[in-house]
Amino acid sequence: MQAFNGQKVDKIPAHVPPELVYEYDIATDPRVLEDPHARMRSLIREAPPIFFSPYNGGHWFVTRKKAIVDITMDPEVYSSRNPGEHSKEATGGLSLLPISVDPPQHTMYRTPLNQPLSAKSVAGLETAIRAMTNELIDKVLAAGRCDFLPDIAEPLPVTLFLKLAGMPTNRLAEFRELALQAASATVDPETRAKTFKQIAGILAETIQARQDKREDDLISRLLDANLDGRNPTFHEMMGYSILLFLGGLDTVVNALCFGVRHLARDQELQAKLRADPSLIPGAIEELLRLYGIASIPRHVTRDTVCHGVQFKQGDALLLLLPAANYDDAAFPNPEQFVIGRTEQHMTFNTGPHRCVGLNLARLEMKVFYQEWLKRVPPFRLDPQAPPRFSGGFALALTRLPLVWS
Ligand code: HEM
Repeated sequence: MQAFNGQKVDKIPAHVPPELVYEYDIATDPRVLEDPHARMRSLIREAPPIFFSPYNGGHWFVTRKKAIVDITMDPEVYSSRNPGEHSKEATGGLSLLPISVDPPQHTMYRTPLNQPLSAKSVAGLETAIRAMTNELIDKVLAAGRCDFLPDIAEPLPVTLFLKLAGMPTNRLAEFRELALQAASATVDPETRAKTFKQIAGILAETIQARQDKREDDLISRLLDANLDGRNPTFHEMMGYSILLFLGGLDTVVNALCFGVRHLARDQELQAKLRADPSLIPGAIEELLRLYGIASIPRHVTRDTVCHGVQFKQGDALLLLLPAANYDDAAFPNPEQFVIGRTEQHMTFNTGPHRCVGLNLARLEMKVFYQEWLKRVPPFRLDPQAPPRFSGGFALALTRLPLVWS
């Protein structure tokens, strides 16, 4: 079975019972484009917990937390290797490390990232993040309006990536343009491949420069990483750096946008967080739960039954993490905003591949909300220009005009 190639299959495979077929295209479903998370909630209500959609080559969707946890905890049966044409096309043939490797090899590739991206290590970036956030706020504050997406949400993670990777921030404009092309849902495969070549070219330059002379940055740390008694090859370094670039990009941009959109529509919550900023980290977790971003692929390595559904070797799965956050078996009253929930949300996934950048993502968001709520007066959606959305592997906004006075 082919996966995620944009085509609708004419024939449903024989092992898929008709009652488990539900037509849903992650990229073009009109209800996703209207309101992505409302559509996630409707999938929980309307579709079977595990369903087969004929779109994108024909594949399974999994929408409930327990089934997703069981799948991600069993990488021998549900592999992350070559998760489909999409990822190969998207990266110009490079293996992304450590996301496209299964345990036990995954552990070797993951270990070098754990320490540099630990909460303690990323805390060293807090001052820089605060300065970047304030520079961006300075540019829009007096105008009383902005399009939050291009003005704040997009530049922040790209600047931070450059800082983390030890790349000159004077390449921001160039890198931001490339990042936009790389993340765009509408760009054609040829342009996408060209964009990846350019990103890879710039990252290759940095890796080469650090091979000659180490600096105090992540690329230098990774060059000296111990992979079972050897250092990473140049190809492996490329696999790491492209994933670090992509991993922190679309995800943080959209988490910030959905969170700010929620606040723009809830003046009471804005006032509460302004009055007591110590509530911000708890509010961020709940915003992350309500507005999950990424859906992640796996493929089935041998015939198996999962929560009563027969999968065949080679079947492609998409784990709908943003839908699982609305699973009422896992989250009581899932549609309500509740600070201090104890259940772990699924936005960073679980299991061996659980997001290694989550400390950095949380820090970026915490510093952003602290500064934004301190400096920007009560803000709301621009009534003349409502937000627009896009679907796909990452749920996203394509504009978010805000106003304040
Ligand atoms: C709100 C922001 C973010 C979200 C929602 C997010 C989401 C995720 C998810 C769901 C996974 C698991 C993928 C899988 O199981 O196949 C993941 C893995 C990963 N993320 Fe993030 N991420 C975010 C921010 C970041 C940042 C800032 C970085 C860069 C420092 C990053 C780097 C990575 C890497 C390298 C992996 C692969 C980990 C592995 O395979 O062991 N992410 N992320």
